[in-house]
Amino acid sequence: MTETEPVAFPQDRTCPYHPPTAYDPLRANRPLTRITLYDGRPAWLVTGHALARELLADQRLSTDRNHPDFPAPTERFAAVKDRRVALLGVDDPKHRTQRRMMVPSFTLRRAVELRPRIQRIVDERLDAMIAQGPPGELVSAFALPVPSMVICALLGVPYADHEFFEGQSRRLLRGPKVEDVQDARNQLDAYFEELIDTKLKQPEPGDGVLDELVHQQLREGQLDRQEVISFATILLVAGHETTANMISLGTFTLLQHPEQLAELRGNAELLPGAVEELMRMLSIADGLLRRATEDIEAGGTTIRAGDGVVFATSVINRDEDVYPAPDTLDLHRSARHHVAFGFGIHQCLGQNLARAELEIALHTLFDRLPTLRLAAPADEIPFKPGDTIQGMLELPVTW
Ligand code: HEM
Repeated sequence: MTETEPVAFPQDRTCPYHPPTAYDPLRANRPLTRITLYDGRPAWLVTGHALARELLADQRLSTDRNHPDFPAPTERFAAVKDRRVALLGVDDPKHRTQRRMMVPSFTLRRAVELRPRIQRIVDERLDAMIAQGPPGELVSAFALPVPSMVICALLGVPYADHEFFEGQSRRLLRGPKVEDVQDARNQLDAYFEELIDTKLKQPEPGDGVLDELVHQQLREGQLDRQEVISFATILLVAGHETTANMISLGTFTLLQHPEQLAELRGNAELLPGAVEELMRMLSIADGLLRRATEDIEAGGTTIRAGDGVVFATSVINRDEDVYPAPDTLDLHRSARHHVAFGFGIHQCLGQNLARAELEIALHTLFDRLPTLRLAAPADEIPFKPGDTIQGMLELPVTW
């Protein structure tokens, strides 16, 4: 560990697919360094790949955000820290029980079964976008509705309500004010309360994950109402916001690398590897949060019990020891073992689904629109600030 002035974390990116240049001193300090959070509180920042995987698998790091010492990267996050979050906010052994309930709906096999449905959704969204353009705005016409429709179908949430829950998710993740975040949580709670009642009244359960939770786990007393609501919230929010950002930012990044895009178009076999490389390079969930429950010897120092520990995935995924020329997009490299989906017990539950969506969305988009290009100068297209999931705010395109 090198002692330097702590860097403020998080900060805005200067290019949407590179870590903020302000993190350069952090990149120089692997595998562990100090940062200052928005409230002036110091925390550890993990920057090395090997140490990140070691610590993400370490049960002495807790994700229980209700604890007063749990680090908060933003005032917004701090404002809802006392709320319950299923899976991601729960430690073992309770996490294991919750995860077991969910795993069958998110296996690789289930993602393969869902592919024809995802393909249909992608085709329909593209038909609609093509019918209205060119030009088009890719986030609202394609990147957001595709994962939103997929997660609705999987959960058994009516897509007709998408404007409501997409809007509330947006407020939850980057509402301008603290009150927005609290109100968004309340509104989502009330929405799911009502949806649970509707589902309970149905004589036959539908085939969504939520139908199963309501008709089995809730009825049989394995979960209470509040738990069902917190499952529904994390699955719905994590299920559409993240993937939407990967589709928009992935498209932008590929359009900025025309030679590699041309190669990808001509060779569909490159697709799975390309998705992994984009996941590594874009690291859209940049800043995973933990609290040490005991003293931990790591990176040549001691992380004390109670310390906040943050994982900068964008920096970890560019560790030169693992990825040569890490700032270069290389669709041929083996980008496996990146931590863009996390690692350890909380590793992304939806990763099989997300990979299937990304492969189908990117392949079909570039296949059907061979002349797809940006409709505005790249450096004028707005992208998200550093304190939320990374992605494009808008993506004006033409073809
Ligand atoms: C490309 C899109 C996605 C990215 C980049 C992503 C990223 C992540 C990351 C980094 C974590 C670990 C967080 C941590 O350890 O602190 C995570 C967990 C999680 N993700 Fe995803 N995710 C994506 C898509 C999805 C989808 C489609 C779902 C569908 C429901 C989903 C549901 C979850 C859930 C439930 C967890 C918590 C798992 C647990 O604690 O056991 N994610 N995701």
